[in-house]
Amino acid sequence: MHRTLSALAAIALALVLLPAAAGRQLAGAQLVGGGRPWEEKQAQNFKPLIGILAQACHYCPGRSYVAAGFVKWIEAAGARAVPIRYYSSEQELRRVFKSVNGMIFPGGLTDLWMDSPYVVAARKLWQWAKEANDGGDVFPIHGTCLGFQLLHILEANVSFTQLLVDTDSVAHPYTLDFSEGAANSTMFEGLSKDLVTKLGDDKYNISMENHMFGLPPAHYDTWPALRQNFHMLTTSKDRNGVEYVSTAEHKSYPFFATQWHPEKPPFEFGMKEIPHTLDAILVSQHLANTFVETARKSSHRPESPEQELELMIYNWKPYFTLKDSVMDPSYDGPDMCYFFDRPDDEAPEDNRLQLGASRRAASKSFAGVVSPPKGEPAAALAFA
Ligand SMILES: *[C@@H]1O[C@H](CO)[C@@H](O)[C@H](O)[C@H]1NC(C)=O
Ligand SMILES: *[C@@H]1O[C@H](CO)[C@@H](O)[C@H](O)[C@H]1NC(C)=O
Ligand SMILES: *[C@@H]1O[C@H](CO)[C@@H](O)[C@H](O)[C@H]1NC(C)=O
Repeated sequence: MHRTLSALAAIALALVLLPAAAGRQLAGAQLVGGGRPWEEKQAQNFKPLIGILAQACHYCPGRSYVAAGFVKWIEAAGARAVPIRYYSSEQELRRVFKSVNGMIFPGGLTDLWMDSPYVVAARKLWQWAKEANDGGDVFPIHGTCLGFQLLHILEANVSFTQLLVDTDSVAHPYTLDFSEGAANSTMFEGLSKDLVTKLGDDKYNISMENHMFGLPPAHYDTWPALRQNFHMLTTSKDRNGVEYVSTAEHKSYPFFATQWHPEKPPFEFGMKEIPHTLDAILVSQHLANTFVETARKSSHRPESPEQELELMIYNWKPYFTLKDSVMDPSYDGPDMCYFFDRPDDEAPEDNRLQLGASRRAASKSFAGVVSPPKGEPAAALAFA
């Protein structure tokens, strides 16, 4: 039944996509949704757990944090979230990995030097995900914004300083320009003609861009591993016309990457530019459903019901960060966040959740001023 409907939907999509993206042909639409190994499998796990790789958090009430929008995004698609702390031992990372059915590399502000603990942990998880998929056990990853960049950094194995260029795209809801063959992707399969058209139209500005750096399409050729392994589905332009890759999907693995933020429209209201139209919500839900449905094909399980309870994010309370102003006011941070573990920085008195407290400190931290490794130039990072 489902397969028949998918097939019909595919044909319908094929018929409607071709004239859709103004000026850009979505070639390959007639064979939408075929051939990829993770699409051939059946869903088998109807209680999927999704790991979210928490990021460093300074001058806030924790050592690391996850924006609640990512948690709600996958919850609304029928999954439950598990925080993954990048500073866990390898054994603990492995245990969590074997318990979850997919992972999110979220957006945010963190330092992506190749040897930073965050990238080192992400690389392990990403490698294990590849091995699981190679062994026939589907394991998807969705990377948003900084997570999009991380997936590309890992694949190209080059520093972000080489891979990325400055873009003027903070708080910039805009459009997606579909590349040839974009319809033949897991991510856009089944998205209605109406939404594909609107995603490309600046009367709607559905894709929520919020980043200071972008990946120029030409870099797919500079680093052939990118061209070889990623299907560039869309590009977008910043306020000055600088083009960057905005959506990509791995060719061999269910790794999905959006430089834009599908999780924001339904769940983040603090930044006034975020679109909340029905169209923006439907696009968000489409990508969440595609991702979580792929995770339902993973055979990973927690070792016991006790471990399952212990892993879930419900063990922590979300904070209303927008109201409590623990984040830099110039950084339009998440409305709500989860914080994990004890703060681990040099100014513990700044780590209390107090109304209006430590804005200056927060701004220092969330502007992302990082100490570079020996020999590398200092850089002020802000990925959002
Ligand atoms: C769609 O993608 C699949 C997997 O990469 C490939 O086997 C198939 O040939 C593609 N179809 C078209 C029309 O490009
Ligand atoms: C990644 O690059 C580093 C340094 O450039 C190199 O030592 C390492 O072997 C590379 N890893 C892979 C998997 O190619
Ligand atoms: C969409 O964004 C573009 C670029 O920032 C802008 O020129 C356009 O006016 C926006 N459209 C709407 C309807 O706000």
